[in-house]
Amino acid sequence: VHPGWPARLGPLTVPAGRVTLRPIRLRDAAAWSRLRIRDEDHLRPWEPTGEGPWDARHHIGNWPGLCSSLRAEARRGRMLPMVIELDGRFCGQLTIGNVVRGALRSAWIGYWVSKEDGGGGVATAALALGLDHGFGPVGLHRIEATVRPDNLASRAVLRHVGFREEGLLERYLDVDGEWRDHVLVGMTVEELESTVADRLVRAGRAAWG
Ligand code: ACO
Repeated sequence: VHPGWPARLGPLTVPAGRVTLRPIRLRDAAAWSRLRIRDEDHLRPWEPTGEGPWDARHHIGNWPGLCSSLRAEARRGRMLPMVIELDGRFCGQLTIGNVVRGALRSAWIGYWVSKEDGGGGVATAALALGLDHGFGPVGLHRIEATVRPDNLASRAVLRHVGFREEGLLERYLDVDGEWRDHVLVGMTVEELESTVADRLVRAGRAAWG
């Protein structure tokens, strides 16, 4: 058993609706496949290159294997693979990965939100919930993220929750078929005067409940 897993987080209310996080599960297959295939153009420019065509990779039949391997990593304390729900339905994913303990106590965080649910604060709220969980129950000291310089929506989300830009990682990650530069952002627990969610609420970007 690892601290902070499994967990249900939220709700936080934003203009789009009520945002909660919960562990991924096998019956997410249909929603995952439908949104991922429908939103290929929205997602593919920003996501790690995978093996084979997009539709084949996101076929409903691939979810059980993917879900099981992510949940196995979660049980080993290396990852927290969560679904973002908007008003109780699947609208995206938030993952805390490469959880390293010992003297580092660090991880990365990443997310996606379906195109139709975008623009209403969902990713910002989900990231706040994920960060507070990572720095709280999971016991992390540092959380980092990487984002393509031209992903302005994601950079806005990272800025809203208080990430610091730390530098440019040249040719860092194979995304959409090429080695792409990424901006590295980071946050350590000392930078939080209270919680990230509290900061969002005080900034008028979200409400409790
Ligand atoms: N230029 C500048 N700002 C933009 C643009 C744009 N083209 N598009 C949106 N924004 C701003 C919005 O105005 C908003 O800021 P505001 O609240 O100050 O108005 C912000 O970006 C978006 O905030 P949210 O509404 O909280 O985010 P949303 O729920 O729309 O999700 C996300 C954003 C996650 C980037 C979504 O569009 C997505 O899934 N994109 C594809 C996959 C992706 O890029 N994932 C992130 C990879 S990087 C990482 O994981 C660390």
